[in-house]
Amino acid sequence: MNILIVGGGGREHAIADAVKKSEKADKIYCCPGNAGIAEIAECADIPVMEFGRIVKYAKEKEIDFVIVGPDDPLVGGLVDELEAAGIRAFGPRKNAAILEGSKAFSKDLMKKYNIPTAEYAVFTDAAEALAYLDTCKFPIVLKADGLALGKGVLICQDRDEARNGVKEIMLDKKFGTAGNKMVIEEFMTGREVSVLTFCDGKTIKVMSSAQDHKRAGDGDTGLNTGGMGTFSPSPFYTKKINDFCKKNIFQPTVDAMKAEGREFKGVIFFGLMLTEDGPKVLEYNARFGDPEAQVVLPRMKNDIIEVMEACVDGSLSKIKLEFEDNAAVCVVLASDGYPVRYTKGHLISGLEKFTEEDGYYCFHAGTKKTSKGIVTNGGRVLGITAKGENLHKARANAYEATTWVSFENKYCRKDIGKAIDEFGEIR
Ligand code: AMP
Ligand code: GLY
Repeated sequence: MNILIVGGGGREHAIADAVKKSEKADKIYCCPGNAGIAEIAECADIPVMEFGRIVKYAKEKEIDFVIVGPDDPLVGGLVDELEAAGIRAFGPRKNAAILEGSKAFSKDLMKKYNIPTAEYAVFTDAAEALAYLDTCKFPIVLKADGLALGKGVLICQDRDEARNGVKEIMLDKKFGTAGNKMVIEEFMTGREVSVLTFCDGKTIKVMSSAQDHKRAGDGDTGLNTGGMGTFSPSPFYTKKINDFCKKNIFQPTVDAMKAEGREFKGVIFFGLMLTEDGPKVLEYNARFGDPEAQVVLPRMKNDIIEVMEACVDGSLSKIKLEFEDNAAVCVVLASDGYPVRYTKGHLISGLEKFTEEDGYYCFHAGTKKTSKGIVTNGGRVLGITAKGENLHKARANAYEATTWVSFENKYCRKDIGKAIDEFGEIR
């Protein structure tokens, strides 16, 4: 089969790496890709929101199957456009991707179907939202309804901060039209965990758990980023919790979407908070996480195309997902100054040292091939993933591998996976 991957970050490099191992894949293409993906796939410089050009390219290259990585094209309906052109595609259609595309939709769905989540209210009017704040306990969480590059969530410690937040979201439109509507939500405490699943509209299968580190600085300080590192599996996500989530969160979500006439086929990434009252949903994502994919996919034993086709065809119940009995840690190498201001275009060396057979992966995010070599081209530059027989070993391996790569202004968090120290020796 000819496979086209849409996207150009570390997540898409991890997907491409898994597709490369598929018996079903012949030629692999990617729009727009990056310098790392270009080693695996033929890349075309087409932005992910240019649906017409993507469909045309897929026809030209006689693509049999498209995998859509990022949230924006999924929420915008790229899968629907590909299907309308007779091209099979993995990922939710527009009417199902709304699970991520509208926080108000997802909260209302959870309420209607009794799926555990934080208490909330939805507003389309700033004055009403401000009045509501007078009745709230603090801290409180404000969320712009739509996609906001992962930045549309504000945690406010007191009423003044929250009033400012409402104004920023709804009146100043800091997150654009994503703020036409907003959710005001109860603040929850607990440990966060990401759980990636495959769905075929009726069956849902859990891949693995992972934990992200969203803040830029050590000790979870500094600004929110796209994610500075991950580990998988999460030792906090026990079998008992998984059983609870399957019964009370995962299957009910898929059933609810089906009942609403919005069959979900693709990946649902559940952002969960493990609270004292049990696991609750923080958010849904309609895609693989980035950098969660970089620690989950390298551990998957299945042929990824076989699983994805089963999702599209509605035959996922026949698939047994299998994962290696080990662990993986991903440390993101970023440009110093990310996510605010940083320089790009610096030459990267050491990329040749990674051997996947030994469990070391170098997933490219912001990189570009030039005549002088591969250079930095973004805030998050590389995701260094290493496996190990347990989380401690995987972490040591990943940090060792971060020293193999050099570029000017290289920055990484030093405490990715530190939470696992609470467990002492694992396994
Ligand atoms: P989201 O984009 O909804 O995942 O929110 C981004 C981050 O904000 C989450 O990963 C949490 O750390 C935090 N967050 C979101 N909702 C809540 C909540 N209700 N209580 C506490 N923290 C939250
Ligand atoms: N790592 C968080 C996300 O992909 O949204």
